[in-house]
Order: sequence, then C-alpha cells, then structure tokens
Amino acid sequence: TLLHEELAGDEVLVVSNREPYLHMHTRNGVEVRRPASGLVTAVEPVMRACSGTWIAHGSGSADRDAVDRNDRVPVPPANPSYTLRRVWLTKEEEEGYYYGFANEGLWPLCHIAHVRPVFRSGDWDQYVQVNQRFADAVIKEARTDDPVVLAQDYHFALLPRMVREVLPKATIITFWHIPWPNPESFGICPWREEILEGLLGSTTLGFHTEFHCKNFLETVDRYLEARIEHEVSTISYGGKLTKVEDYPISIAWPEAEDGPGVAESRTSIRQELGLPANQLLGIGVDRLDYTKGIIERFQAIEKMLEQHPEMVGRFSMVQIAAPSRSSLDEYQNFEARVRSLVQRINRRFGNSNYEPILLKVEHHDSDQVNRYYRAADVCLVTSLHDGMNLVAKEFIAARDDEHGVLILSQFTGAARELHEALIVNPYHIEQGAEAIYRALTMPEIEQRERMRSMRSLVKDFNIYRWAGRMLLDASRLRQRERIMTKIH
Ligand code: F6P
Repeated sequence: TLLHEELAGDEVLVVSNREPYLHMHTRNGVEVRRPASGLVTAVEPVMRACSGTWIAHGSGSADRDAVDRNDRVPVPPANPSYTLRRVWLTKEEEEGYYYGFANEGLWPLCHIAHVRPVFRSGDWDQYVQVNQRFADAVIKEARTDDPVVLAQDYHFALLPRMVREVLPKATIITFWHIPWPNPESFGICPWREEILEGLLGSTTLGFHTEFHCKNFLETVDRYLEARIEHEVSTISYGGKLTKVEDYPISIAWPEAEDGPGVAESRTSIRQELGLPANQLLGIGVDRLDYTKGIIERFQAIEKMLEQHPEMVGRFSMVQIAAPSRSSLDEYQNFEARVRSLVQRINRRFGNSNYEPILLKVEHHDSDQVNRYYRAADVCLVTSLHDGMNLVAKEFIAARDDEHGVLILSQFTGAARELHEALIVNPYHIEQGAEAIYRALTMPEIEQRERMRSMRSLVKDFNIYRWAGRMLLDASRLRQRERIMTKIH
C-alpha cells in the first residue's frame, strides 16, 4: 500500500545491468531462470507491485532467439505484471563496460578486498557509450515527461545525468548496491569527477549505510565545487538538488506456504547428500566472488575441526557458489584457490564416506536454496566487505521454526541491523572457528530468542519499505525544488 500511495499512478522505469529473468535455449525449449543477484532479489518484488518497465542488459539470455527477437517480454512468465525490455550489447561493449570498467575497475575500487582496481581508457569509453545507450532506452520507453526512473548500481553512474538532460522533470532515484569508499580510495579513479557529476543527476541517491553516505558526501566535497547541507543530507550542484540518504535494502517477506517446511527439508536434504539424519549442517550461499570471504570461512571451519575433533564426522558444510564473471582472471584464480583449499581440508579431515566441505559450483534456483536454508543448523556469511548481503536476510526469513544460527561478518551492511547474529571479523580465523562451534552448540532457547528478534526486524523493514522511503524522499525534494524555483 505504501508503494501505491507514493507512486499514485506514476510511470516506473527500472534500469539495471542484470536482467531479472534469463530466457535460455535448452533441449526442452526455452527455459526461464533467475540470476544470482542480490539486486534482482530485492528489486523484482517492487516491480511486480508497481508494473512498469525494467530495462536490462540481455547478457544471461545467451541466445537472443530464445525470446523470439522480441526485445520486450512480459514477466514473470507465470503471471506477467511488468515488461522486461532488453538492451543487447556488442561483445566489445560488454568487455569494456561490464567486465572492464564496472568489474575490474569500480568493483575492486569500492570493496576493501585488497584486489587492485584496473582502469583502462578503452573500458571507460565503452562505459560512457553503454550508459548513453541505456539512457536513450529510458528516454525512448518513457511515455510521460516525468517518469520515476529507478537506476541501479555502479554500472550506471553516468546515466542519471544523461537522462536528466533530456527529461528534466523526471524523478531519478539511484541506488548504489555496493559500498562507497573514502575520498582517497575513490580518488584513484581517473574519471572521478565525471562519475560524481553523473550521479548528481539523481533526485535521490541511496546507499545501504550511513558510512557509505558519509564517504560519498566527503568525496563530493573533495573533488567538486558543490554545496553540501549536512543537516538535511542534500547536495546542490549545477543548480540541481540531490538527497543522499541511507536506505538499507531488504527482501519481500515470504508467504506462509512458500515451499517445503523445515522438518521436511532437514530430512530430504540430508538424504540427498547421503548424510546421517542427525548430521550438523552449515550452509553458505554466495556468488563465487573474492569479496565474499569464502576462503576465510573454510579456514575457520578447518580451525574449528582442529580444535574440536568431536565435530569431525559430525559437521558438514554445504557451500553453494554461483559462478560469476568467470572470464576475468581474478575470478578464475579465486576459483582455483577455493577448490584447492577444499581439497586440502577434505583430505585432512575426511575419509571414504565423509567430506567436511561440499562445494557446489553451480546455479541453484531460489526454491532449492530455501530448502538448504531450512535444513541448516548454521548459515555463514563472512564477506570481507559487502554493501548489504541479502543471504543473511533470506536465511532469517526462511526460518519460521525460529531455529538456526546466523554467523555474520561485521563488514556487511546487514551487521548494522542484525545485532542478534554472531558477528565476526572474517579475517580473524580463530574467532570464526569459535563462532562456528558456539553456533553448533547453542541452546535452543537462545537460538529462538535471537532468531525471533531478527525475524521481526526483517519482516517490518521489508523491501516495500525500502522503495517507499526512497519515493517519499524524492517527492518531498521535488516539492522543495518547485517552491524554490517559484521564489527565485
Ligand atoms: O549488487 C552488486 C551486484 O554487482 C549487482 O549489480 C549484480 O546484479 C550482482 O551483484 C551480481 O553480479 P553480476 O550481475 O555481475 O553477476
């Protein structure tokens, strides 16, 4: 309801790199899949609620013919409620804009994972060109001169300004799904001024945490001649006001009858994995990405098994690792390191019928992931740095039995909200080991108290609140701007 009130019939256009559905050609015809992306998990329910058009890069739909060369597809397939409009990029554009500038440049620039960003002029040129192509798509799709544009993430830092130039009355709400670094770190980017100017085309600019907002305001202060009003968190640049605010992202709270329950999942998952019915089970769900702390997680498991030998044979860890950006060297090296660590730990503690770590490098759909969440005794989220991390919130939402323990890195946005998780520093392996042991031996009553409190928070601060608050702030700011233009 909040969303419908805020939108009051406005036209909504979402822009993101990742598409919410992948139409894949298989032997059985066209198969539709959901990609592994926190952004998609969060924004899709908002789009279902308010219809409109979602513009995305047609990357995952490997075969353009799979959607019959029709660039506009009604989705979700079973119950269409909005339109997916794809922009098809050339190989060169995808290389430079997505793999290059976005994922070899901005991604390591914004995450403290000690991977050096790479900036190339050729990648930047593609990034500018692709941002323009998506801005043109927004302008073309818009039926009114004042649509609400929801621009998503670091792939589209230049788009807000590009859209603003043609549609000055648009409400442009930009959300940066990853951390924003401090001014010194951001200053490494050779095109820092252009990125900042691009983002300041937005009406509202959102980050997950206050830290990231503060870093952004300080970065603008350092590199642009802008007026910053700290009390109301606005930036005035080139006669345009932008509100910068923290809007912690969330998930849609699941319907009660969503999938098999905890008891059934516990039994069937253990059977499928060939594990005893009372086996203690850990779960990790991540893209195979060097920011996720997967290596540190496995090292903590190794340490725990070393210090608590009674857990050898009793505890198994399932790691679901969705392949991601795998044509980049950094990701290939990371995968090789993960695999060899798993092999070493399994050799050290395993035998012919027991392996402590079960690594599954493959795509899993959300129903499968939910069964694992429900079957697990502990969920491990150990990112070295993460904007929010929605796996933490999904695990909590899946546990309607109020059991299970969440281990959560202090370097995630989620740790700012989920205080009842076992908060760890992923770099501190001994501390991680202790937390895993504590989780596996935690009394039921304590599990319940912690889980209950986190569940009530995630249920209240759900994804519709996130979108509703941004829309409300944007409409207030537009009103303020209108009044100011009348006065002057
Ligand atoms: O939120 C960060 C993010 O990079 C999203 O923009 C993206 O959809 C998701 O993680 C997964 O990454 P990718 O789309 O590159 O596979």
